[in-house]
Amino acid sequence: MSDDDIDLEDVLALVMERVRPRIGEGRVADYIPELGRVDPARFGFAVATTEGEVHTVGDTGVRFSMQSITKVFTLALVTQKGDTHIWDRVLREPSGNAFNSLYQLEFENGVPRNPFINPGALVVTDELLANTGDAFTALRDLLRAETGDPDLDADEVTARSEQESGDRNRSLAYLMAGFGNMRNPVPDVLDHYFRQCSITITTEELARAGLLLARHGVRGDGSRMLDRAAARRIMAIMLTCGTYDAAGDFAYRVGLPCKSGVGGGILAVVPGRYSIAAWGPGLDAKGNSVTGALALDTFTEATHCSVF
Ligand code: DON
Repeated sequence: MSDDDIDLEDVLALVMERVRPRIGEGRVADYIPELGRVDPARFGFAVATTEGEVHTVGDTGVRFSMQSITKVFTLALVTQKGDTHIWDRVLREPSGNAFNSLYQLEFENGVPRNPFINPGALVVTDELLANTGDAFTALRDLLRAETGDPDLDADEVTARSEQESGDRNRSLAYLMAGFGNMRNPVPDVLDHYFRQCSITITTEELARAGLLLARHGVRGDGSRMLDRAAARRIMAIMLTCGTYDAAGDFAYRVGLPCKSGVGGGILAVVPGRYSIAAWGPGLDAKGNSVTGALALDTFTEATHCSVF
């Protein structure tokens, strides 16, 4: 299929046909108890184009928990206007470990491997809090503007559930504070981080928000938020570190910068063309959505839209 021949409605119909028999597969994340209550039989897939069209199939109007997908947008906020200070505090390498692992952080002196594992994301939220005085609101306002949804917000029940089950994140943050890699008091950083992760969004809205990257850093209102280099670098980290310890397999199967979350969402970007959002709450053993991964695999297979 050449670029001009892509009929997105046909592609979405094919995605649905492939995914339908697998809906309900996988395990809904329950280490945050509130996430365990989500109906596993949901699936949504949305493609937003840089020309402004949005194509959808499935449950694309149902809100789900963004979780780690928020980490893309907090990273965008701390790297806007050419700011590179964050790279003094976090590396850009895949970790090869679970996203909430503690032991690598200890022997690497409190400097997280990348901004998408939990300690890296905590450092980014800390930096955003230091820069703005209110990390959560800065993130929420960005997402409200880019989705066009003035009601987009945290789910306070999920945020509380994260607080109550968040001892590993607490340990990671205090360990980094012990190494001098926290600028704000740990409880404040955690509070903003938990609320950030609990933001709910629809698949269609997530596709719209991801256009920030598909347009190489330009916001929906036409203003430039990120210089092209910063946008390119965020997408590079999505490709290498965005899907936990399955990033190699995602690069092989999908070939796009992606970021997943334990709420079952995945954001993928075809630079210059599309922002794609997939949601299916059932996760595989590595923590990625089973149906979301299959949908993206089907999309790139059918369209040959890949960075490779
Ligand atoms: O902190 C946590 O464990 C969750 N709020 C987010 C985890 C997630 O989606 C995967 N993280 N990289």
